[in-house]
Amino acid sequence: LSVVVLISGTGSNLRALLDAAAEPGFPARVIAVGADREADGFAHAEAYGIPTFLVPWREFDSREQWGAQLDAQLSVWNPDLVVLSGLMRLLPVSLVDRWSPRIINTHPAYLPEFPGAHGVRDALAAGVDRTGASVIVVDNGVDTGPILAQERIPVLPEDDEHTLHDRIKPVERRLLIDVVQRIATGDLDLAAAAPAT
Ligand code: GRF
Repeated sequence: LSVVVLISGTGSNLRALLDAAAEPGFPARVIAVGADREADGFAHAEAYGIPTFLVPWREFDSREQWGAQLDAQLSVWNPDLVVLSGLMRLLPVSLVDRWSPRIINTHPAYLPEFPGAHGVRDALAAGVDRTGASVIVVDNGVDTGPILAQERIPVLPEDDEHTLHDRIKPVERRLLIDVVQRIATGDLDLAAAAPAT
């Protein structure tokens, strides 16, 4: 299974996927890594000799034009699966419609709880004693797509956003790697998980 990963930041989840994909027998390989800004996570791709591409948000006049360029880049690689892992940007409808359901996203909360860009902060603010991590199919909502995997994670009284996110990310990575593996082996059928609307 060929995979393109899109990031915006440190790419720690990307790093974990690259490490897993480097294991002999892992049924998926990351063929390129893209970002909407100069992402620190590019270093992980470069360490594995994997091509990176940049579609800088700030160089475009609209989400649609940015998305069209991103779509053009994705089409060059023509992956079997697109993984958003820390891409902090909503994709335009046209791109999601073209790639869904072969486009999945990781989220640091127990969806549908706490969707959006601040899931960890929102869980803390809500004072809940547990949150979670989720892997979903990307649809045209904000973290509203079909849930492929999720797991509960405790919130500790002394948690701040950093300590909680650091407890969530390892779970997120494990779920992501497992989902990618199950898609690659055919155990998980995205078309069945996300019926065309
Ligand atoms: C991840 O928790 C991701 O789900 C969220 O932002 C974080 C990105 O972390 N959207 P990293 O860039 O993979 O380290």
